[in-house]
Amino acid sequence: MTPTLGIVVVAAGSGARLGGAEPKAFVALRGVPILERALRGVFDSVEPAQVVVVAPESHVKAARTIAERVAGGASGAITVVAGGSTRQASVAAGLAALSAEVDTVLVHDAARALTPSALIDRVARAVRTTGAGVIPALPVTDTVKRVGPDAVVQGTVDRSDLVHVQTPQGFPRADLEAAYASATDEHTDDAALFAAHGGRVSVVEGEARAFKITTAWDLRRAENVLGAQTAGLRTGVGIDVHAYDETAPLWLGGLYWTDEPGLAGHSDGDAVLHAICDALLSAAGLGDLGSRFGTNDPRFAGAASEVFVRETLALVSGAGFAVVNVVVQVVAVRPKIAPRRSELEARLSALVGAPVTIGATTTDGLGFTGRGEGIAAIATALLSASA
Ligand code: CTP
Ligand code: MG
Repeated sequence: MTPTLGIVVVAAGSGARLGGAEPKAFVALRGVPILERALRGVFDSVEPAQVVVVAPESHVKAARTIAERVAGGASGAITVVAGGSTRQASVAAGLAALSAEVDTVLVHDAARALTPSALIDRVARAVRTTGAGVIPALPVTDTVKRVGPDAVVQGTVDRSDLVHVQTPQGFPRADLEAAYASATDEHTDDAALFAAHGGRVSVVEGEARAFKITTAWDLRRAENVLGAQTAGLRTGVGIDVHAYDETAPLWLGGLYWTDEPGLAGHSDGDAVLHAICDALLSAAGLGDLGSRFGTNDPRFAGAASEVFVRETLALVSGAGFAVVNVVVQVVAVRPKIAPRRSELEARLSALVGAPVTIGATTTDGLGFTGRGEGIAAIATALLSASA
């Protein structure tokens, strides 16, 4: 299905006020380019979308690399184009790259690197319900003064109906394109241009985290927000090894595999699930599978290893942690993981209740895995303190 939502992410500015060595969107924010952080929010949004990244002419290739890294499997939905000398020209270049099926457009500043995906969803939904322009807004909290010549205050502005606005700003595509086609003046945002050509615009609630990185001080603020976020993170690792047992059925990653040798073990020998349990337990500081469940415990003889995962997850959440993600690597000649990778990832993610990704490798004929004697699985888990 071709997406009917288009998201134009403008990243073609130079960032003169930030004053970095690279254009602003390519400046690192805690080790990750601003554009990459912004695109993470975009790709985490619910509705499938065509994403158009507008980059400086000199950085089109760099932007494409970043966008493909973030999109992963969804990279078919990405377009990267060169921007213009003003933000308005850059938006126009982005609009020109939208595919025919797109009927709703969001225009978003890459400089709003920490915009939560929920805001993107909120704006897209509101455009569809109202059939008009929608912008995120937050109330003005400071007192606002009107100041005349010589720095003399002339009065206090009633702020009760004032808001400051953010992006993404959303519009019915045809109406926004018509407005852009007839625009001659420069406007400070897309909603102003849209309204100047007769469009109706309403507001939805904005997000403090969607602030724009303009100056070095803003970049520091974004770093601090991310720092506070990583403070409660814990990683863990787990490894499990089982020998093949030709007479047993193969259960691996919670799936049954036909025509493959099974694994020897006290339970069903599911090395992937066991490695995941150890990764989760170690991250939470709860010991390991052996000490928690006891390999001699008759309750677990021949048990489906999903039982261990469920028990482990209960212990982990009881200790005050939530799973952020889990990564597994299988080291084995058999079975081949790639053909069932997406099925495995879906099964494991459902079981763990967080994204689980899985990869595999062989060892070039070396060692017990190379000789085809058994399987090793290595897992890492990331937890966050759920308080
Ligand atoms: N933008 C753009 N093309 C331009 C100017 C701006 O795509 N010719 C984008 C910026 O990359 C940014 C967003 O519009 O994501 C908001 O603009 P701003 O914060 O002003 O960024 P810069 O123009 O890069 O910064 P400065 O004004 O300090 O140079
Ligand atoms: Mg600018």
